[in-house]
Parts: sequence; C-alpha cells; structure tokens
Amino acid sequence: MEIVIKDNADTASRTAANYIAQLIRRKPNAVLGLATGRTPLPLYRELIRMHQEEGLDFSGVTTFNLDEYVGLSPEHPASYNYFMRTNLFDYVNIPEEQVHLPDGLTSDIPAHCSEYEKKIEKAGGIDLQILGIGSDGHIGFNEPMSSLASRTRIKTLTRDTIKDNACFFSSVEEVPRHVITMGIGTILDSRTCLLLAFGENKAEALAGAVEGPLMAALPASSLQLHPVVKVFCDESAACQCRQTDYYRWVYDNKPQWQQFE
Ligand code: PGA
Repeated sequence: MEIVIKDNADTASRTAANYIAQLIRRKPNAVLGLATGRTPLPLYRELIRMHQEEGLDFSGVTTFNLDEYVGLSPEHPASYNYFMRTNLFDYVNIPEEQVHLPDGLTSDIPAHCSEYEKKIEKAGGIDLQILGIGSDGHIGFNEPMSSLASRTRIKTLTRDTIKDNACFFSSVEEVPRHVITMGIGTILDSRTCLLLAFGENKAEALAGAVEGPLMAALPASSLQLHPVVKVFCDESAACQCRQTDYYRWVYDNKPQWQQFE
C-alpha cells in the first residue's frame, strides 16, 4: 500500500487525477470503477479540467459505479446516477453506453446484482477502482461486518451512514435504508485501488485501514490484501497514522520510473 500525504484535498486530488490520466493515456480503453460522495468531487473537477483544457480523451473509457440507493430513480437529485451526471459525465466524453451504475429501481435485485458482476467481467475487469472511506471504515457501501469475499448485493445502511448522508436529502427520514453495492471481493478484483481520504473525521478509519488489523469490522482494512493500493490523503486524514514519516520518505525517494506528480 502506498500512502501519499498532501497538504490539502485539492493537491491530493490533483495528484490522484494525474495518476488516473497516466492510466487513460497508456490504456485508452481503461475500465474505471467510480465512487460518489463529497470525497471524489475535487478529483472529478480536475479530470474535467484535464479533458477540457488538455484534451484528456475519455471516449474509450468504460465506467462502473460502486453503488446506488435502492428506490431512487436516476432523476432523483440524491441518486448516484444524478450525482455522476452532474459532477462528471455531463462534462467529459464517455459514451453513454460505456457508463454503468446499479439500477436503484430494479424489480429483481439479486438478478440485477449478478448481471452487474457479469458486465464487469465482460468489460475485462476494472483497471482502477476509485474509493472513498466512510467514517465507519466502509468502502463502497460495504458496512462493518460485510464479508471480505462479498460480491455486488443489497446492503442495509448503518444509522451512522444514514446520518452522514442525510445532507444530500431534505431530511434524515428520506435517506433510503437499502443500497446496492459492489462487494469487497468485487473491489479487491480490480487491478488497482485508489483510496481518497480527506478531513479529520476520516483519520481513525484511515489509520485502522492502513495500519490496523485486517477485519470485517473495518471493511477498508481488506485493502491490505490487495497488491496495488494507492492512498491519496490530506494531513488531517493522516493525523492518526503512526508511520507518516516513513510514507513521506517513500514518496520522496521513489525511483523516477515510479513517480507521479
Ligand atoms: P464522503 O463519503 O465522501 O461523502 O465522505 C465517503 C464514503 O462514504 O465512502
């Protein structure tokens, strides 16, 4: 796991965007796993800038989002489908047929979930999965105690996550109790995981994920099993990690062929 600590969320997101742009330039038909929430917003803004000002071409890119609320239509302003359109898809050139999100209105959730897994496989698997981390350590919507081998399925949100996400709805009662999410096993199958974490309210979860024991009680700790994880975080999210000096030392001493800025 490589931990890249930057002064603030914008600088960390720019570095993460450069890393993703390198992949897209090297592999124009890359398959990206996408995340929603507050965390990836500066990253998406930078990718849009790179598309508009530097011609970063997304026309060959295929995307799969991590999750969606059960019961919300794509037009609902709090749905992740709406989020992705208004924060990324409307501003870059990914063809619509190459965009995939779980369908919150599906009438057969288990069948839809296994179909979603098949689509990922058919696309050749996910090259790079973007992840945020919940304050309870979830990745995607894999809440604590999710199986480390889980695949795409329905999950019940914890009360804490419902509270954390209530700001996207007019009241806490409106937040759906259920979601469809890629599983931890699905996430671990991607070739690279890129985890973003900003702000002090992520510090405990991030330290546990990176330096704590591997356990279902902290789903993000499952990333310790993955061979290629890049964590881009700010100083406040890293403030409970014990090995920050070492992470900075590693970053400052990367061989040139491994560097990204
Ligand atoms: P946030 O959510 O980016 O809105 O903090 C992160 C997550 O729940 O994965």
